[in-house]
Amino acid sequence: MNFHGYRHERQDIVNPSGNEPFSEILTRRICRRAVLNTGVAVGSAALLAPVLLAPNATASTQGLSFEELPKGMDKTHHVAKGYTAKPLIRWGDPVLPDAPRFDPMNQTAGAQERQFGYNCDFTAYLPLPKGTNSSDHGLLVVNHEYTIPGLMFPGSVGSALPTRLGREQAEIELAAHGLSVVEIQRDSSGAWQTILGPMNRRISTRSTEVAISGPAAGHKRLKTDADRSGKKVIGTLANCAGGVTPWGTVLTAEENFDEYFSGNPAKTAEAGNYQRIGFEETVWDWWGEFFPRFDMAVEPNEPNRFGWIVEIDPYDPHSIPVKRTALGRFKHEAANPIVNQDGRVVVYTGDDQAFEYLYRYVSHGRFDPAKPDANKSLLDEGVLSVAKFHDDGTVIWLPLIYGNDPLTEANGFGSQADVLIETRRAADLVGATPMDRPEDFQPNPITGTVFAVLTNNILRKPDQIDAANPRADNKFGHIVELIPPGGRGIEADHTADTFRWDMFIRCGDPSKPEHNAFYPTPVTQDGWFVTPDNIAFDAKGRLWIATDGADGAAGFADGVWACEVEGPERGKTRHFFSVPIGAEMCGPTFTPDDSALFLSVQHPGAAKHSTFQEPITRWPDFVDGMPPRPTVVVVTRDEGGPIS
Ligand code: FEO
Ligand code: CA
Ligand code: CA
Ligand code: CA
Repeated sequence: MNFHGYRHERQDIVNPSGNEPFSEILTRRICRRAVLNTGVAVGSAALLAPVLLAPNATASTQGLSFEELPKGMDKTHHVAKGYTAKPLIRWGDPVLPDAPRFDPMNQTAGAQERQFGYNCDFTAYLPLPKGTNSSDHGLLVVNHEYTIPGLMFPGSVGSALPTRLGREQAEIELAAHGLSVVEIQRDSSGAWQTILGPMNRRISTRSTEVAISGPAAGHKRLKTDADRSGKKVIGTLANCAGGVTPWGTVLTAEENFDEYFSGNPAKTAEAGNYQRIGFEETVWDWWGEFFPRFDMAVEPNEPNRFGWIVEIDPYDPHSIPVKRTALGRFKHEAANPIVNQDGRVVVYTGDDQAFEYLYRYVSHGRFDPAKPDANKSLLDEGVLSVAKFHDDGTVIWLPLIYGNDPLTEANGFGSQADVLIETRRAADLVGATPMDRPEDFQPNPITGTVFAVLTNNILRKPDQIDAANPRADNKFGHIVELIPPGGRGIEADHTADTFRWDMFIRCGDPSKPEHNAFYPTPVTQDGWFVTPDNIAFDAKGRLWIATDGADGAAGFADGVWACEVEGPERGKTRHFFSVPIGAEMCGPTFTPDDSALFLSVQHPGAAKHSTFQEPITRWPDFVDGMPPRPTVVVVTRDEGGPIS
């Protein structure tokens, strides 16, 4: 999320490490010039293989088939010609069979906890029946990242100002966070519908019990009055993006969890820890008035119970979600797993704040499709590492292991739990590379390379640039490709200590020299884009990019741009979808056969002077009195078949 009227991604710096992003100034200068001029890091030609490798046989080189959508911004959404984008489920729509009809004038927490939550973000599609590749029947899993009281409640004073109407409002907000699991199916006309089926579920911050596992579970820094075990917590919070595991569970990422706690972090025993996360006293934090666990003065350890990756089994509506502490604690944007060639499970996850880091988790155990239950502990035992980018085109994974210098008692770490609770500080100490706001970080299942999306970083100064973050005052963001050794596709070794990396795209308008944009293949005026955020790969391995903040950075609506990643049209992004005014684009997910694309339209109508009473758009209903509603839309091709 990036809406600066309410909770938002912080644009200040909380990383005090001063980590030098690269080691050698001369190398830096040579490499930067190479990267800026060609998009290819060529620090020492003798050391490096060509970065732009030959097209992979398994990746499509056909080019994308759709006619580009013109850029713009108005009160509704738009999709490229020949496609239909239909609202599938909106804030307030029923998730559980006993959900009451949505009445925004008289909302209750009890109703909200049975209805689709607010600000949909990540989506996942899990086929039904389980174990099939069904593309016309499945479970849709959706994150609800945060709430905007100014657009949710009558009597509010506007989306940019705090609205505090009392305890019921706070209860509704808690209930509107979390996730929804909804059965969906194509009807006889081919249109997608939601079904009030037996697997439907609301997971909320208000009442859902969540377990804590892995090395930090049960640690004293995770214990509270309500939970003396340090192993269970009510709810998951600020769920941004996520991923789907090979064993059919969903990983959901707790991102801006710091923005919910009142009280002065400096007065707690966790002062340094909370300062490094960026906790501060703000007018937005008021849940603590009614729920003491959100007041740091009362429950100083509660914030240590958020900021994790949470695993959910949507196929079992009675399963208890689990916070997997082995994957570290920070502002996780997403968590994207891949099974390595040797069966170990690798998860890529980024920390979304200016000057934060990219992480990789490698399981000790190996994935076995025949042992679904055993696979669930693969995310409890493994090694978390953080990325250090070198200007010579290599990236080194630095393990965060307690006891290895400098992660020792001398630096205040008494166990692996301490390393994981304070992942950012551990990463500072080993010398990770501060990046330009890591959002999605995802392996391409066809080509085997890994794409790291950096949304923007206007705080980077000219003396802080490096080859992997090459622009000061980076308004437009960029995308870096990480290339594991061993070739592409299934040969890639995602567990290796050293990868290569390449600048894939520097966003912005390539016709404006001052943008210093770079696309590997020329794009049209509708094809260039800015502020990339969440990504998805289709079944042919092509990249679909959702943006967050294009309206502010470039004056057109957020949306989806898509491109080939190999072959003659590598990086030739094309505009496919745009959101209504005020919204950002989240959650791209395809069905296995690419015949449907699910997209989350988050915070439609959010703007400084937009209110519940007078919003700048009433999308998607356009009914008097109905506020704008965060909505998942489903895109299909009018002539049928794959989206592209
Ligand atoms: Fe919730 Fe980093 O976007
Ligand atoms: Ca975002
Ligand atoms: Ca606070
Ligand atoms: Ca995001």
